[in-house]
Amino acid sequence: MDTKYWNIDRLGRLYKDWDPEVLKKLATKIDKSHWRPGYHITTQTGLLNDPNGFSYFNNQWHLFYQAFPYGAVHGLKSWQHMVSDDLVHWKFIDKPMVPDIYSDRNGCYSGSAINVDGKLFLMYTGNTFEGEEMARHPYQLGAWMDADNNISKLDHPLIESEPEGVTGHFRDPQVIKHGDYYYAFLGAQTVDNAGEILTYRTKGIENGWELYKKLDLGTENLGYMAECPNVGFVDGKVVVIFCPQGADKHEFHYDNVHPNAYIVADDLDFDEMKLINPSEMKQLDEGFDYYATQVLNAPDGRLLSVGWIGLPDTEYLSDQEGWEGELSMVRELHIENGNLTQRPVQEFKQLIEEDEASDTDLQKHIEAAPFDEHFNVNLESEDSYLRLSYDESDQEWTLKRKNVGEDVSIRTFKGEASSVDFYLDNTVFEIYILGGKITMTGQFFHDGNEVRVNSENMSVKQNKISNM
Ligand code: FRU
Repeated sequence: MDTKYWNIDRLGRLYKDWDPEVLKKLATKIDKSHWRPGYHITTQTGLLNDPNGFSYFNNQWHLFYQAFPYGAVHGLKSWQHMVSDDLVHWKFIDKPMVPDIYSDRNGCYSGSAINVDGKLFLMYTGNTFEGEEMARHPYQLGAWMDADNNISKLDHPLIESEPEGVTGHFRDPQVIKHGDYYYAFLGAQTVDNAGEILTYRTKGIENGWELYKKLDLGTENLGYMAECPNVGFVDGKVVVIFCPQGADKHEFHYDNVHPNAYIVADDLDFDEMKLINPSEMKQLDEGFDYYATQVLNAPDGRLLSVGWIGLPDTEYLSDQEGWEGELSMVRELHIENGNLTQRPVQEFKQLIEEDEASDTDLQKHIEAAPFDEHFNVNLESEDSYLRLSYDESDQEWTLKRKNVGEDVSIRTFKGEASSVDFYLDNTVFEIYILGGKITMTGQFFHDGNEVRVNSENMSVKQNKISNM
């Protein structure tokens, strides 16, 4: 990050005070990029992080994301809005929710959405910094969105501040309805520096929010802060997805700077706010960049998810071009034999063209099936590669990534041999193996206009992906 340019003034400047020329210049610069994905959601300009407000409302899918449009840095955050008829093609709605009230003056932070009597209710964290010490004071806020996508914020906070015993790290409400109550699941940090998920509840969504109970996950290994908690229900089970920053690696292995984790349980006892028969905590994704995943129990009965292809506290090569971050394909989640599986929603199939892709295509769908016990599939460009291999002798998968101009990074994990379903969207990849029991997601910054596919001991079929 260019810390000279990105001083406190620019990082925190209200959107109305920016010269619109800045956005135009940035857009012109980004136009020249050859790293932009085709069908993955990315920013028009600047930075994208968490998915927010994923919902179905007014006969359309709605998805927002944390955005800072003025540069590829974590500046003052807003909610950028998109809609879709099919979860594949997304259209920008130029009516973002931006920080413009006292209680969200330092950022409209992450949150969720719920359909209430034909209107969409957004619940989010208003970030503020107070006094000389810039102490965090989080407000949990509400807003209504109407059928024309106009957003009006409530004139009062839903939750005024963090509760006793919790620091200013208190945010990211996921709101769901159960019985007579709306429940909000919130990420928190205790004054003793421990992460936890707190719940609040109310009968009337605009008022009466009260601290209810801490969510008992069956583990206390939530590091120093649990960001972006989400609860979803599918196949008679419950799944909790969250980001336990600083979780103890002796008990829960992860290689990324911050992990995205999940726990599957038989049920959630709302009276005790306790998971019944919870699994151990597991990594949601084995790749390099995946975080802040949000789920939606959709009206059609599916449990859907979408994650940020990026990580906090990390710089990316595309920053130099004035943009950063993508959202994953929307995934359908299931619990199969006690394991979480993730697969792209079936609507994505229509993007795949049957004819063989040529080596130079940057948007590919690769299906690879092993015919020996040691196999690999390589995506290569001049000074960069992405190499997935399997070694039967120690039942180990290895993913090596060499971004242009960078050192090699490696991820390994244990699992059986399996066919591989590999999506490459220019610099974004998503790999699904073992029927979606394992996913690997990340960015691959190559150096060319072509990425060749080579493999050993695998039969490989390549299709094109066309954005239609
Ligand atoms: C996670 C996160 C959230 C916060 C948002 C701010 O990436 O730090 O906890 O609400 O990003 O952009």
